[in-house]
Amino acid sequence: MPKVTVPGHGSFEVQEGTKLVLALEDNGVNILHRCGGNARCTTCRVEVAEGDFGDLTPIEQQAFAAKGVTDELRLSCQVRVTGDVTVTPIMTVEKNNMDAGPRPSE
Ligand code: FES
Repeated sequence: MPKVTVPGHGSFEVQEGTKLVLALEDNGVNILHRCGGNARCTTCRVEVAEGDFGDLTPIEQQAFAAKGVTDELRLSCQVRVTGDVTVTPIMTVEKNNMDAGPRPSE
């Protein structure tokens, strides 16, 4: 099974094809997902240090453009884990003192 590593948190294995936002949340990383996984809020964005999620999808490009996010980030509600990755969530319940938001669909 692919391994997800979050610096400062640790590593865990997830079923191949798991949506990244759920892989994180279900393993104790309280990442925000304020729009419920609909590519609107960008609060689920992560920095990818290692691993590959393929090309930025058009829906991610649109979401980032709409929010003025220009860094090399991915929306964890729009990508799935298919191999080992190392990611850092940009916004979390603890860091931003906000409720995570509605749970994204599988
Ligand atoms: S963009 Fe809102 S949860 Fe991913």
